[in-house]
Amino acid sequence: MNGNKLIIETQRLFIKAIQPVNAETVYNYRIDPRVNKYQNWESISYESILKFINENLKTEFNSPDKWKQFGIYTKDNDFLIGDTGLHFLNPQNSIVEIGFTLSHENQGFGYGSEAVKSIIYFLFKILKKHRIFASVDPQNNKSISLLKRVGFKQEAYFKKSLFIKENWVDDVIFALLNEEYQPNEEDYKYYCIKE
Ligand SMILES: CC(C)(COP(=O)(O)OP(=O)(O)OC[C@H]1O[C@@H](n2cnc3c(N)ncnc32)[C@H](O)[C@@H]1OP(=O)(O)O)[C@@H](O)C(=O)NCCC(=O)NCCS
Repeated sequence: MNGNKLIIETQRLFIKAIQPVNAETVYNYRIDPRVNKYQNWESISYESILKFINENLKTEFNSPDKWKQFGIYTKDNDFLIGDTGLHFLNPQNSIVEIGFTLSHENQGFGYGSEAVKSIIYFLFKILKKHRIFASVDPQNNKSISLLKRVGFKQEAYFKKSLFIKENWVDDVIFALLNEEYQPNEEDYKYYCIKE
């Protein structure tokens, strides 16, 4: 499957490869301290974002030990409102770590949950992955609420295990197994996956 051609369509969104033309938008929301508070993105530049987008387009999709980033676009105007990263992991390339970010102006509308739910559906139902997990700062309440909303359960709490912005911070692991997954038919009646 070519990740650069993949499009997941939901009720209000498209999830698809981020393009170089979107670099400025990505840069603007990633330098926003309200957005990057719990992430390691302090010293980014427009050039580093553009380079990242170009390299990401060359990164093989669904390949062990590789991250692949996708944009979250609103369907009505094809505007980039955030992104989501998928980290494909061994053993058997059956485990995926997920990360997600929305621009500040686009938080509070359910776009993050809508995007993540469709990705969970895609990873479990189409790619037949075994486990999806996310690593989150315990103080990142919005992210934890999103993870719970889409069905993830807390599995682990690692004290001071990540070094972010010159500090050791706690790390909480939320996860969902394919065998526990209960897709909501109301959600997936909208899904359309093209490659
Ligand atoms: C984590 C993040 C994506 C969550 O964004 P979010 O918009 O709060 O998450 P959701 O998409 O689940 O939206 C839920 C909110 O939208 C509201 N909402 C409005 N319309 C809605 C709709 N049609 N459907 C669902 N929810 C809706 C909900 O009531 C909820 O609001 P509340 O938080 O005030 O209760 C966002 O905070 C973010 O980008 N943070 C910075 C990056 C980051 O830390 N990422 C996590 C690293 S793993």
